[in-house]
Amino acid sequence: MRPFDGRRILLGVTGGIASYKSAWLARLLTQAGAQVDVILTRSAREFIGSVTFEALTGRPVHSVLIGDGHALDHIRLAREADLMVVAPATADFLARAAHGHADELLSATLLAVTCPVLMVPAMNDKMWTNAQVQSNCAALRAQGRVVLDPGVGPLASPDEGAGQGRMQEPETIVAHCGRLLEPPGKLRGKRVLVTAGPTREPLDPVRYLSNHSTGKMGVALAEAAWRRGAEVVVVHGPLAVRVPDGACAKPVETAQDMAEAVASEIGDVDVLVMAAAPADFRPAKVASAKIKKSGKVPQVELEETPDILKSTASKRKQGMIAVGFALETDDLRENAQKKLTAKQLQLIVANSAREAGAGFGYDTNRVSILSAAGTTEELPLLPKREVADAILDRIEALL
Ligand code: CTP
Repeated sequence: MRPFDGRRILLGVTGGIASYKSAWLARLLTQAGAQVDVILTRSAREFIGSVTFEALTGRPVHSVLIGDGHALDHIRLAREADLMVVAPATADFLARAAHGHADELLSATLLAVTCPVLMVPAMNDKMWTNAQVQSNCAALRAQGRVVLDPGVGPLASPDEGAGQGRMQEPETIVAHCGRLLEPPGKLRGKRVLVTAGPTREPLDPVRYLSNHSTGKMGVALAEAAWRRGAEVVVVHGPLAVRVPDGACAKPVETAQDMAEAVASEIGDVDVLVMAAAPADFRPAKVASAKIKKSGKVPQVELEETPDILKSTASKRKQGMIAVGFALETDDLRENAQKKLTAKQLQLIVANSAREAGAGFGYDTNRVSILSAAGTTEELPLLPKREVADAILDRIEALL
């Protein structure tokens, strides 16, 4: 099952140089299972041809508002859409959309849709900061449209350098489409704090103790929680994967840093999912200079790091859901049950470090979910994306 199977997306393309990226966007949306209907404005056709979109979506491309056989295209397209995306949205299109123009197919269709609308502006940075453009975006937002801020980076004109005006990348736009297509659930508007990845505990300026965590499970959880409409903060150690779009990333290095970052966020958090693998031990002394070979093997004394999850217990707001993980080599259920109680959790996700295809570094995981209410559920081996959704389903049931 693909994420957008059975969903119908209307993709409007207006006349900006970023429209070359809209072809890739159409491809990604189609690959994700959506039926994509493309509307090109007249000026978009100066930049990119309809044949490109027809080939990528397997559907006819629409451009004409008034003409034989097209009289009600805008009404039909609007009625059938689950989501409308305009990417790129030029300054001119934003102005016309903000003021309700309906003299060509795309803006007429925009007036007729009842589904969510995502606008993805792209323009020169001076144009983006222009007061009229900003006021048009504010008007569109007030009308309930979602308007993404453009990215910062090199702009089309070679002598312009970097600025804010680049169209968001197609992968980012797809993530926003997923969020807008998600049916409303209990995580919408909730504040979710996810921790992810390992920590690094320095021994000297060039060495550290760490573990094999890559952060994939935590990142999958953050991605799924954001898609479900939550405001997501990810406190993470060094990751092997990218922090998902939409989540606010707080990078840290040591377990102590992670403890401080979690403590500063925890006050108004509705859900804490502690998927990180912070080091349990750190060198008791950190050498200020590189430890050199001296003929004698150095003895490293270790001390315990703070138990981050346990230390949040007294700072959690009323009704907050706390979820921990337990990675065990032996006595999985018993150990997980002990941690559930000791850390005062609502749920604990237990997995075995001995099982092939599950745990650190894999894209899949096999977990059991134990609850404070005394239930235990065993899930099959699943992609981490699906494990994340299963965990969030249990969390939503508790909210
Ligand atoms: N955890 C934490 N702070 C630590 C270590 C772990 O908050 N210093 C969290 C983990 O993120 C996980 C849960 O506590 O959600 C259980 O982690 P785990 O390493 O399995 O358990 P420990 O409590 O560290 O116990 P042990 O290592 O002895 O099994």
